[in-house]
Amino acid sequence: MKYTQTASFACFLQAVHLANGQTPPGSQPSCEGTLGVNYNGTRSVVTDEILFPDQVSTQPTIYLNGTVSGTHMVVFTDLSISGGRYNGTTLPLAQGLQSCRTTRLHWLQTGLTQTENGSFVSDTPAVAPYGGSMPTLNDIPHTFTFYLFPQPDDFALPDWNAGRNYTALSAPDRLNFSVTAISDVVGAPIAANYYRTYNRSNTATGSFSNGTCPPYLAGGASDNGSTGGAPSGNGSNGGSGSGSSPPVEFTGLGAKLESGVGYLLGAIALLAFAMF
Ligand SMILES: *[C@@H]1O[C@H](CO)[C@@H](O)[C@H](O)[C@H]1NC(C)=O
Ligand SMILES: *[C@@H]1O[C@H](CO)[C@@H](O)[C@H](O)[C@H]1NC(C)=O
Ligand SMILES: *[C@@H]1O[C@H](CO)[C@@H](O)[C@H](O)[C@H]1NC(C)=O
Ligand SMILES: *[C@@H]1O[C@H](CO)[C@@H](O)[C@H](O)[C@H]1NC(C)=O
Ligand SMILES: *[C@@H]1O[C@H](CO)[C@@H](O)[C@H](O)[C@H]1NC(C)=O
Ligand SMILES: *[C@@H]1O[C@H](CO)[C@@H](O)[C@H](O)[C@H]1NC(C)=O
Ligand SMILES: *[C@@H]1O[C@H](CO)[C@@H](O)[C@H](O)[C@H]1NC(C)=O
Ligand SMILES: *[C@@H]1O[C@H](CO)[C@@H](O)[C@H](O)[C@H]1NC(C)=O
Ligand SMILES: *[C@@H]1O[C@H](CO)[C@@H](O)[C@H](O)[C@H]1NC(C)=O
Ligand SMILES: *[C@@H]1O[C@H](CO)[C@@H](O)[C@H](O)[C@H]1NC(C)=O
Repeated sequence: MKYTQTASFACFLQAVHLANGQTPPGSQPSCEGTLGVNYNGTRSVVTDEILFPDQVSTQPTIYLNGTVSGTHMVVFTDLSISGGRYNGTTLPLAQGLQSCRTTRLHWLQTGLTQTENGSFVSDTPAVAPYGGSMPTLNDIPHTFTFYLFPQPDDFALPDWNAGRNYTALSAPDRLNFSVTAISDVVGAPIAANYYRTYNRSNTATGSFSNGTCPPYLAGGASDNGSTGGAPSGNGSNGGSGSGSSPPVEFTGLGAKLESGVGYLLGAIALLAFAMF
């Protein structure tokens, strides 16, 4: 793999309690390098700012203030999907940023190379075309994170994410997407960035139901990765409930199972990565 990086793009896969820099605190993979994200050529994302759905509806340009060679890919994920939509499940779920939250893929573009002005372009169709945010009324702000990864020549989606169809923006397959499954395969992202968004119609009152917390997500990111805790079962806080399911080891944001998952290599993954 032809790949170099400048010293400023220092990223880490280690313990989630380390300073994260350009990735949300408490999440992994973590990353210090800043990925430039520009909407409409006019608006660069300021890390952790609030942007509303209508401001992020079109695919942004991504860039680096530094030079890298080789092929890269960008993964853009909502880390704040309420686990309530899986309220009955005992199946594993990719861990989101907050307690009882999972993830949703919003953009996955492979085959990126850097141009002279620092921006990245690709001739490859997106694995998951860019989709903006559609936040539910009165939910907490959702954290949307961009990760720029080096892309090995032989890259294929890891088991957790493979075999799904990410084409439609509304595809259920985009939910429960694991970023750590990718970093486990290709290493740390070299740069990242994130913003938060919520529904412009949010009112000060109004209510949003978190539903019931799926056991697998109970005791999520809030307890720093040391343990999954026991599920509280009602979505209020996964940290310290008294549910009947055993504690689930929390291995970080978008944690993937080490075993027990069907090892399917999907047609989509093969098609998307066989060429270019
Ligand atoms: C790139 O450099 C410009 C000029 O110094 C700065 O305004 C911008 O924030 C930088 N962008 C990134 C992603 O570091
Ligand atoms: C980008 O353009 C779209 C369509 O013109 C607009 O709705 C949106 O607000 C713009 N985004 C930003 C960040 O200016
Ligand atoms: C829903 O869950 C989030 C964290 O996952 C929490 O911050 C928020 O307070 C919860 N909302 C309600 C209404 O319980
Ligand atoms: C950077 O280069 C790309 C590819 O040549 C081009 O599409 C884009 O408009 C350029 N951006 C700027 C800000 O000049
Ligand atoms: C905001 O919430 C309203 C009411 O649920 C919904 O109709 C609308 O589509 C949401 N806005 C966005 C941008 O998703
Ligand atoms: C989440 O994705 C993993 C890996 O694809 C899968 O094993 C699991 O069943 C999914 N969870 C749900 C609730 O669908
Ligand atoms: C993937 O989903 C798209 C859009 O729903 C559909 O057109 C396409 O046929 C699907 N591809 C496969 C391989 O199922
Ligand atoms: C749990 O899911 C079921 C089926 O989707 C739904 O009918 C129910 O309202 C959900 N409960 C909560 C508390 O979200
Ligand atoms: C993580 O949480 C555990 C249990 O609450 C605590 O003992 C430990 O000190 C925490 N570690 C860090 C690095 O915050
Ligand atoms: C949810 O669980 C928490 C922690 O176990 C508990 O304090 C709270 O009263 C429960 N809320 C409801 C509505 O059951």
